[in-house]
Amino acid sequence: MTGYPRVFSPVDIGGVALRNRVFVSAHTTNFGVDFLPTERHVAYHRERARGGAGLIITEPLRVHPTSLGRAGGLAADPAALPMLTKITEAVLGEGAAVFSQITHAGRHSENVFRRAAAWGPTSHRWAAGGHVPHAMSRREMVQVRDAYVRAAHLVAAAGFQGVEIHFGHGHLLHQFISPASNDRADAYGGSEENRLRYPLEVLDAVLDAVGHDLVVGVRMSADELVAGGQDLDAGRRIAHLLDTTRPIGFLNVSLASYTVPSIGHHVADMSEGHTPYLEQTLTVAKECTRTPVLAACRFADLADAERGLATGLLAAVAMTRAHIADPFLLAKAAAGEEHRIRPCVSCNFCIGEIAGHRPMTCMMNPRTGREAEWPEQPGTSPEPGRVLVVGGGPAGMETARLAAERGHSVQVWEIGPEPGGQLRIGRRGVGRGDLDRLRAHLQHRLAELAVPVRTSTPATVADVLAEGPDAVVLATGARHTAREVPGWGPALTAADVLRGRYGRTVVVLDDDGGWTAASVAETAARGGATVHLVTAAGTALPGVTEYSRMTAVERLRGLGVQLWTTADATFTRDTATITSALVDATTTVPDVTDVVALDPPAARDDLAAPLADAGLTVHVIGDAVAPRTLLEAMTEAHVLGRSL
Ligand SMILES: Cc1cc2nc3c(=O)[nH]c(=O)nc-3n(C[C@H](O)[C@H](O)[C@H](O)COP(=O)(O)O)c2cc1C
Ligand code: SF4
Repeated sequence: MTGYPRVFSPVDIGGVALRNRVFVSAHTTNFGVDFLPTERHVAYHRERARGGAGLIITEPLRVHPTSLGRAGGLAADPAALPMLTKITEAVLGEGAAVFSQITHAGRHSENVFRRAAAWGPTSHRWAAGGHVPHAMSRREMVQVRDAYVRAAHLVAAAGFQGVEIHFGHGHLLHQFISPASNDRADAYGGSEENRLRYPLEVLDAVLDAVGHDLVVGVRMSADELVAGGQDLDAGRRIAHLLDTTRPIGFLNVSLASYTVPSIGHHVADMSEGHTPYLEQTLTVAKECTRTPVLAACRFADLADAERGLATGLLAAVAMTRAHIADPFLLAKAAAGEEHRIRPCVSCNFCIGEIAGHRPMTCMMNPRTGREAEWPEQPGTSPEPGRVLVVGGGPAGMETARLAAERGHSVQVWEIGPEPGGQLRIGRRGVGRGDLDRLRAHLQHRLAELAVPVRTSTPATVADVLAEGPDAVVLATGARHTAREVPGWGPALTAADVLRGRYGRTVVVLDDDGGWTAASVAETAARGGATVHLVTAAGTALPGVTEYSRMTAVERLRGLGVQLWTTADATFTRDTATITSALVDATTTVPDVTDVVALDPPAARDDLAAPLADAGLTVHVIGDAVAPRTLLEAMTEAHVLGRSL
């Protein structure tokens, strides 16, 4: 018995029995090759099923060649049948239920890989700079409807138990529903009834074709979060209509649509807190008296899941990124080992990789997508030895963990008063507190493995040589220094601001472009300062992954932060002169109280050469090699830890 009785109670979804009420919602992995599934998918999903998920909804099969989009995505191609069948056998074999999503992405299909036009209800593009789509003719709509039916047959043939049709997230059918993306003049545009006509035709065709063999469900957005788009009231009406007129097996409620910044919210990052859209979801769920409602969006831990289920309005909740980070989260909780769950901190590197057309990975769990190559238990080293890790930041702790699991005698020396490295500063930022869950998890694991972590312990060459380890890992991070700004004087660092040291008018010289800049600006603005974020880059926050960048920029603008791109600032006493090449304008900011210089830090690798010269085996990882993001630091740390 766990503390989560609702999570661990079974539930029936359209006639399919789920062993518990946590599911993994559809998420594109980019593990495909030539738009076909691979063994990588099989291993990935098998592990999440083995880890205890009640239901896995696999990533969308793109129903039509005009919706292929991302290079690693999947097509509803008959050639996919053998591997899809392997996926269903793997998942069912581990006791989880398995459904597949099918979709057409419509106007935001990024068909650049095939030089094909995207199709949409009208020719409105999804974002500035996006491709102008081809407005679908009635004949093309029939083609795509029939493609949905063929895709559903493929899903049934592969042994899936259910199929999910996407009415949300701004995919094609949502584009028809939304008044913001559909201004057709025929029977498929105009009134809400007309705008729903095509999605319902597709749904009815799929229900007719496979409704006796498969659970047919719908994914929808409670609210599109777009001015003039499908709002929450419309979401309620759609849910009511589906519940009362269509024999669907479930309604999976999410939110947002493919426009900027809306779509960033469907994967709310840590800045938005836990379950930020639960209220909207419940509002829609109340419309369903017959249909089981599934919900997603940052049920970040089992307490969130239990709380959502306790409303009595939800049949199951998604913990999707939580499963990307730890496939075994439910098994661990069921075994009374909740403290061992590797938490998802909602940093969104995973979906950032998808946006970059790269295979998905996870900052917390670099094994993600490599399940077949890298077993969860890293195996034992043929030559166990003494490993000294210098630096108790996340990278140092991750390598130390794996090295200890491989049987080495490991110790960590940390210069600060507690482990965590940059996380100890980063977690101070407004909305960045969940970063500390990464520190806490790794620190706890090291304690379990009896790895001593000596804090307040600077390492010198002499100290390390005196220790005489078989291998030294330098995870010493990077040095952030304050500098003199011409015309102003000594600038503040990010750490100064995050410790609360700033005044009324803050100019941030952003040569970072990542989360540090976002966090400094947001923290100072929420603290009441007027903030100018000045970057030479053409985009604000270019180093923040795409989906989180959208919402970070939205928040900063909402807080009145002035975002200056392609810009530079000079200072005379307490006056800043900001020049932006983009707007060909110069602005004067009087009464500046603080200038923050976010210069790239310098890799702190001073020990590397002398220790190597002294004959030690030295490995350098993370920012000590070159300052980058947590994703690179954790990945390097993980790869090294497995190889020691
Ligand atoms: C890497 C990634 C890819 C995703 N791709 C899809 C997708 O193809 N279709 C979809 O409906 N949702 C997609 N989503 C959204 C998830 O299904 C889910 O709604 C979202 O992650 C919020 O749930 P969570 O907080 O439990 O992660 C994706 C999410 C992630 C993280
Ligand atoms: S990359 Fe970040 S958001 Fe994505 S699953 Fe991993 S920890 Fe969660």
